[in-house]
Amino acid sequence: MTSSDGRAAILGRYQNTCVIGAGVIGASWTALFLAHGLKVVVNDPQPDIEGFVRTMLDKAGPTLKALGLPHQGLDANLRFEADLERAVAGADLVQENGPENPQWKQDLWARAEPALQKHALLLSSSSARPATEQARKMKDASRLLIGHPFNPPHLIPLVEVVPGEHTAPEAVTDAVAFYDALGKVPRVLKKEIQGFVANRLQRAIMREACYLVQEGVVTVDELDDIVTSSIGLRWAVNGPFSSFHMGGGPKGLESFFQHLGKNMAKSFKVIPEVDLDEKLQQRIVDQAAASFGKTPIPQMERRRDDAQLAILGALAGLAGEGATRS
Ligand SMILES: NC(=O)c1ccc[n+]([C@@H]2O[C@H](COP(=O)([O-])OP(=O)(O)OC[C@H]3O[C@@H](n4cnc5c(N)ncnc54)[C@H](O)[C@@H]3O)[C@@H](O)[C@H]2O)c1
Repeated sequence: MTSSDGRAAILGRYQNTCVIGAGVIGASWTALFLAHGLKVVVNDPQPDIEGFVRTMLDKAGPTLKALGLPHQGLDANLRFEADLERAVAGADLVQENGPENPQWKQDLWARAEPALQKHALLLSSSSARPATEQARKMKDASRLLIGHPFNPPHLIPLVEVVPGEHTAPEAVTDAVAFYDALGKVPRVLKKEIQGFVANRLQRAIMREACYLVQEGVVTVDELDDIVTSSIGLRWAVNGPFSSFHMGGGPKGLESFFQHLGKNMAKSFKVIPEVDLDEKLQQRIVDQAAASFGKTPIPQMERRRDDAQLAILGALAGLAGEGATRS
C-alpha cells in the first residue's frame, strides 16, 4: 500500500481531470475525484446535467464522510463544459463514462485526441468494450486503457484495469497508481476479453437467476434473499476457489475435485435455455415491484452504501488496518 505522502504525490500529477458522461457512473467518479481534491470538468450534453451531478454529490456525501473523505463544498472544484475539445484540453486524466456503444466510444476518442495533452491518461469505464476496439480511430492509443469500476465507484473498491494492444506499459502502471491513490483496489487483467472478469461472473449468475425465476423455482426476492444469506456473504471474504478449497476437506481443492469434479464437469456441459424475452422481463419487473420495488431507489442506495461500508469496515478491522485508508 502506498503511503499517504506517496498517494498525494501521485494525485498531484492528475490535478485536472475530465469526466466524460456523468450519468450513474460518471457522477459517482466525479464525487470521488472531488473528494480527493482533484479538479473535475464534466462533459455531458444532458440539459439538466448540473442538477443531476449536484444531487449525486449530496447523495454520496454520507458515504464519502464514512470513508474519511471531505464531503462538503466539493463543487468548488467542479466545472461543466459541454464542448468536448474544450473539456479535455487541459486534462491530465480523462475518465470516460458515456453510452456503452463501441462506435460512440471510437468516435469520441478520435474527436478528443487532437485536443488532448500528450501525457493525459485516458481511462474508459466501459463494462465490456476493450480498449483495442475503442482505439480503432486513434493515431496514438498508448495512453488509453480500461478502468472499469463497480457501481458505485465512489464506494466499491474494485477497478479492473485492462490495457489494449497499443497501451504502453507505463500507462498501466500510472492507472494502477492513480486508482490505488484513490483508495481503490485496481486489478490488471492479463488479456482483453469482452465483459472483463467481474461482469462475466455477474452475467453467468444473472443467467442462472433468470432461469430459476423462469422455471418458477423461486421469486425474484426469494432469489435475492438466498444470495445475500449465502454466497454473497461468503464471497465478501473468500472467492469461489478459496471457498471450495475449504469445502473440499483436508486436501482442499484436490479432494474437492476428487469428490465433485466429475459431476461438476458434466454439469458444466448442460446449459439450460433461458429466454429473457419480454414476458420473462415483465415477470421479473412485476415480482420486484411487489417486493423491494416498493422502496424508493435513493433509500435502497443509502442502505446499500451503509451496509457495504459496515462490511468493508469490519473486514478492514479484522486485517488490523483501521476502517479507512484516507
Ligand atoms: N451502471 C453500471 O452499473 C456500470 C458499472 C460499471 C461501468 N459502467 C459503464 O459506464 C459507462 C456509463 O454507464 P452509466 O450506467 O453511467 O450510463 P448512464 O446512461 O447513466 O450515463 C451515460 C451518460 O453519458 C452521457 N452522454 C451521452 N452522450 C454523450 C456525449 N456525446 N458526450 C458526453 N456524454 C454523453 C449521457 O447524457 C449520460 O449522462 C458505460 O460504458 C457502462 O458500460 C456502468
